[in-house]
Amino acid sequence: MKSIIITGGAGFIGSHVVRLFVSKYPEYKIINLDKLTYAGNLANLKDIEDKPNYKFVKIDICDFEGVLKLMQEEHVDGIIHLAAESHVDRSIKDPFTFAQTNVMGTLSLLQAAKAYWESLPEKYEGKRFYHISTDEVYGALELTHPEGIEPPFTTTASSSEHHLAYGDKFFLETTKYNPHSPYSASKASSDHFVRAFHDTYGMPVVITNCSNNYGPYQFPEKLIPLFINNIRYRKPLPVYGKGENVRDWLYVEDHARVIDVIFHEGKIADTYNIGGFNEWKNIDIIKVVIKTVDRLLGRKAKIVTDENGHQVEVPEDMDLITFVTDRAGHDLRYAIDSSKLQRELSWEPSLQFEEGIEKTVRWYLDNQEWLDNVTSGDYQKYYEKMYSNR
Ligand code: NAD
Ligand code: TYD
Repeated sequence: MKSIIITGGAGFIGSHVVRLFVSKYPEYKIINLDKLTYAGNLANLKDIEDKPNYKFVKIDICDFEGVLKLMQEEHVDGIIHLAAESHVDRSIKDPFTFAQTNVMGTLSLLQAAKAYWESLPEKYEGKRFYHISTDEVYGALELTHPEGIEPPFTTTASSSEHHLAYGDKFFLETTKYNPHSPYSASKASSDHFVRAFHDTYGMPVVITNCSNNYGPYQFPEKLIPLFINNIRYRKPLPVYGKGENVRDWLYVEDHARVIDVIFHEGKIADTYNIGGFNEWKNIDIIKVVIKTVDRLLGRKAKIVTDENGHQVEVPEDMDLITFVTDRAGHDLRYAIDSSKLQRELSWEPSLQFEEGIEKTVRWYLDNQEWLDNVTSGDYQKYYEKMYSNR
């Protein structure tokens, strides 16, 4: 029987990975190791918490002794490491916490895995340390085609109505690291430690760098759930700068599915980029979110005259768009080339963007209690700190 620790399993992506592994592999023991920071929420796993192959343990990844003891007691042979501080805006205000969790926490986890696995007769045989990272470690790409061009690639996740690339270059697995934010700098550093543990001690590691995820259970500090929540309450939608920055969006369940594939079939010491070839300027994706929320809430559209004198329908909540001061060091464009993954592991996302965004908005509107719970208390203070006088 495999015994696997998934760190950060109570967070956004981690909860989807835990759910997939617990449901798909009844013969595995899945241990969700999470500190339950503001971003960790066991309500994300209500539907699987009673399964016999699932266990939750509240530990900080920085607690080397605690992690080592858990690995010894549970005979852990695999780690899927997602626990992290993950929000760029928070990293700008408090970089220390990001270095502590993302760098020192990853190092402590690596050290615990090394100490336990090296104590076994078979050592690293049949073991795996899978580190989940981000495309943000590569820095930012130029926006050489602001109007958009036909992209050189496509996946099933690419939007059908809006399939554009905003530059000629994409992040490859070989792209030089060039992080700009304290968040991406801390993730880059953790990636280097993971590779160093392979090169120095022979630990069987694998790393993936994924683009922006969207979907259910994302904490509403990130663009899409924050905006859905604000539209629901008709609060202003704070668009940083001109809304021209580009992100490449992937539905979270597709990320979880590929994590499963790579955990089992990815090559040791290799890196895979994960993305949907689904680039959007922030302002364009925001308009899609507004349209979808308004339609699902039955809010009326307004008739206005456009710049060509034509009468057009505009969702009434478009008025909520409010341009605010840009994020410091705001990366202009992220765009992943995930063709290595398609080629080597035959991976294709399952959901097209239009379907994914509809499912996502519907989920938040159907789960208002979840949203209300996570936006009570400290969230209000966070919102004030980040957005008042911006
Ligand atoms: P999240 O912020 O939603 O969840 C992070 C989880 O880690 C929470 O459950 C939190 O309680 C836990 N955690 C934080 N510090 C911890 C500590 N010291 N010890 C134990 N647990 C701790 O994050 P997410 O968006 O689900 O991201 C998960 C991982 O995927 C991160 O490593 C992130 O860098 C990476 N990633 C995220 C995205 C994205 O779009 N969200 C894209 C690419 C990569
Ligand atoms: P975010 O969801 O924080 O992800 P990341 O910074 O990791 O890409 O932000 C996505 C994009 O949306 C990013 O370009 C910043 C922008 N953004 C806003 O314009 N307003 C907001 O309130 C937030 C949270 C993000």
